[in-house]
Amino acid sequence: MSIVYLNGRYLPIEEATISVLDRGFIYGDGVYELIPVYRRQPYRMAQHLARLHHSLDGIRLANPHSDPEWATIVTELVARQPFDDQGVYFQVTRGVAKRDHTFPKDVPATVFMMSNPLATPSRETVESGVACVTAVDERWLHCDIKSTSLLGNVLMRQFAADRDAVETVMFRDGFLTEASASNILVVKGGVVLAPPKDNRILPGITYGAIYDLARQGGIPFEMRPVRESEVWTADELWVTSSTKEVLAITTLDGRPVGNAAHAGRPGPVFRKMHALFQASKPGA
Ligand SMILES: Cc1ncc(COP(=O)(O)O)c(C=O)c1O
Repeated sequence: MSIVYLNGRYLPIEEATISVLDRGFIYGDGVYELIPVYRRQPYRMAQHLARLHHSLDGIRLANPHSDPEWATIVTELVARQPFDDQGVYFQVTRGVAKRDHTFPKDVPATVFMMSNPLATPSRETVESGVACVTAVDERWLHCDIKSTSLLGNVLMRQFAADRDAVETVMFRDGFLTEASASNILVVKGGVVLAPPKDNRILPGITYGAIYDLARQGGIPFEMRPVRESEVWTADELWVTSSTKEVLAITTLDGRPVGNAAHAGRPGPVFRKMHALFQASKPGA
């Protein structure tokens, strides 16, 4: 039985209940976060807590905890799970109030956290790469907020699943944005290209890790708008997230990705980055 955190208490998930009037349920009026934990050590917790703060600011909800308080809850929750590699999920909503669009006054936020086993990609998936499909990005223009209002992302993920693909790569106005629950990076001529961290994408913590590792490893990295045409002519495409880590996209809409040397297979820059990422994990 999994132990979760709800509004100051640790309790079995079956006993963790909230009101149907919670604004997270009624409006999707909340934000969330997910921190990967390797061998019981959180990965880049400071960056995840900073992003949580940014998301809360973005919806004008006061952060209910300081970073040390969040860190204490994460540590407690991780210690209560019987597995070493975990994904700690946080959700903060604008609390319980009579249904009305405007913000309620003096209502405490609802804070829910749970930690599930972290299912990282298998060796076969890393070796073979993954299939993705493409679509027009029809989501709102605050994709930098990690909002629980995820309908646009849910529909995009299902679009991929219906086509036996792991992700939907999205384009807005002819430029790459991201995928339904991951960032997309492009490799061209040995340079990693990544869309700027603006309102059109979630600033992925894995994307940030890849940026740091590329710099340390001497791999050129450019953050700039990436044209759809550059995606179609890429030498390599990568998908990154806290659960996927970094994976090569080897087919896009059924077409092999990459140049003749490794078309449809993970490329050499991916192999280097994957090794750097594995080495950067706590306990590696
Ligand atoms: C829309 C979206 N983009 C990107 C990411 C990747 O972010 P991270 O690397 O922090 O997991 C996620 C992760 O959930 C996401 O939902």
